[in-house]
Amino acid sequence: MVFLDRLNGTKGSQTPIWLMRQAGRALKEYRELRRNYTFLQMCTIPEIIAKTTLLPIDVLNVDAAILFSDILIPLLAINAKIFYHDGSSPLVDIDINNIHYNGLSNKLDFVFEGIKLVKTYTKKPLIGFAAGPFTLFCYLFNDTKFYSPKAFIYQEPQKFAKLMDVLTNLTIDYLNNQLESGCDCYQLFDSWAGILSPSVYKKYVFDYNLKILKALKKPSIYFATCANHLLDYILALPANAYSFDWRVDLPTISKKTNKCLQGNLDNTILFADKNTIKYHAINLLDQMQGNIHIFNLGHGVLPQTPQDNLKFLVDVVHEYNNS
Ligand code: CP3
Repeated sequence: MVFLDRLNGTKGSQTPIWLMRQAGRALKEYRELRRNYTFLQMCTIPEIIAKTTLLPIDVLNVDAAILFSDILIPLLAINAKIFYHDGSSPLVDIDINNIHYNGLSNKLDFVFEGIKLVKTYTKKPLIGFAAGPFTLFCYLFNDTKFYSPKAFIYQEPQKFAKLMDVLTNLTIDYLNNQLESGCDCYQLFDSWAGILSPSVYKKYVFDYNLKILKALKKPSIYFATCANHLLDYILALPANAYSFDWRVDLPTISKKTNKCLQGNLDNTILFADKNTIKYHAINLLDQMQGNIHIFNLGHGVLPQTPQDNLKFLVDVVHEYNNS
């Protein structure tokens, strides 16, 4: 399987493609399904998890599926309440001074059931995922600008360390169960790591990511955005692949590592016409020739993206592979 080959570090002429947030509001099939359920319901009913996970395989013909869920879902295992409001940042109801974790105790079984169902329907690789513990920590404060979680690190480094321990252990158990249920690999979404300085990232966050990546036995992708200033530390993490947004030059990074790189087409290119999309996609593919590359966007598919442009992008990459 080309996707897993690249993740495992094998070079080859074929570049697999999947898209972050490929199962979401840009798909009319998703919006139709979503009319009947709240987002939280969609994330907690195994049959809907499986159906939504499979949508982009059927509709877009991407080379891998990613579990349909959200990075906040594992917080249910530490008794948080999560609220999703259309189009705005989710809210988390939890007392950060009173967080305990004693194992998953079946609280997230709906995710693992969903994964098992997906595996009965497709042979394509299935990507599991979780947030990086710092990114998860950021959501405990309901501060969309993330000033308070950052201030907390500076003011309460010991409490921060305790919280990160809990979130890290929760994440390891959660991912372990995803992998045991059938996921072939996992992506760690550290979407907010880029708000930290290099020294703060190294001193307070790096070791927790390291612990997760070392604990899990299947291939991993580490993803961060706005994180060029953290590059040396990111490349020191023992992930199988690193995923970057469009703010970095992927061919330049490939000179610093022999591992697989994922990304990093600007997701707004999909609002341009097809010739423009094709030009930029092929340019990235050409530039990454000779390196180990998984094609993706630099960040998630934006909800307003024209659906036929998504399919067109996948076709362009497949045609390039066959030419
Ligand atoms: O990639 C996929 O298709 C898998 C599913 C997935 C979702 N969220 C579905 C989702 C994944 C991997 C995520 C990750 C996620 N969630 C991240 C990390 C990646 C990133 O974008 O940086 C973050 C930060 C979140 C938190 C989150 N979830 C926010 C901020 C929001 C609200 C903003 C928005 O996009 O609506 C969500 C909701 C969410 N997660 C939706 C989907 C499909 C939209 C829900 C809806 O149908 O209304």
